[in-house]
Amino acid sequence: MSAKGHRVFAAVYDRLNAGAERTWLGNRRADLVARATGEVLEIGAGTGANLAHYRGVERVVVAEPDPAMRARLRSRLDRAVVPVEVSDAPAEHLGLPDASIDTVVCTLVLCSVADPGATLAELRRVLRPGGQLLVLEHVRGEGHRARWQDRVTPLWRRVGAGCHPNRDTLAAIERAGFHLEHQESFDPPKVPAIIRPFVEIVARPGS
Ligand SMILES: C[S@@+](CC[C@H](N)C(=O)[O-])C[C@H]1O[C@@H](n2cnc3c(N)ncnc32)[C@H](O)[C@@H]1O
Repeated sequence: MSAKGHRVFAAVYDRLNAGAERTWLGNRRADLVARATGEVLEIGAGTGANLAHYRGVERVVVAEPDPAMRARLRSRLDRAVVPVEVSDAPAEHLGLPDASIDTVVCTLVLCSVADPGATLAELRRVLRPGGQLLVLEHVRGEGHRARWQDRVTPLWRRVGAGCHPNRDTLAAIERAGFHLEHQESFDPPKVPAIIRPFVEIVARPGS
């Protein structure tokens, strides 16, 4: 990532998502984030689309390493009704103590982090025993679609600020030692096939 971050992507991100936010994505965010409790970490918080949905938690640390995204995030902190702190930490190196977080929120981030394995290991490290990982993500399809996603990924990640449409994120979460408590796969309306299906996941660190 350059020192200025992905300025064009950050500038158009909310407009690109506006239709989805109105029709399904906003509701999915609200339902998932409503599960958050205690001390919360949100990685790759982007422009702050989840901020307004937090209720009754102690505090939320919103980590966003891209300066262009982080500037937008900072300008939207007044949407939150809970205490929020901004961090510039990448998900692979959060700089938080072991077992210090009750809930980690990841929406549309595990597709973009540089190293999903290191990220999930880091999330497991900072989560308290019994903590929860809340994920909303587009993931690798099956069969022909998966092979097509593999072919398109090198180009897509260049125009999509590092987004990989072909990641098997569910398997990566299990490999990292999380136990899946809830998982739902769904095909949202009017979303390009390259970034379908979506999954919603609640997972807990295994013992
Ligand atoms: C598609 S945007 C999603 C933003 C937001 N989470 C949402 O739900 O709208 C992907 C985000 O992941 C962030 N990101 C990319 N690499 C990251 C990393 N290594 N650690 C944390 N965040 C990262 C990007 O800066 C960007 O804000």
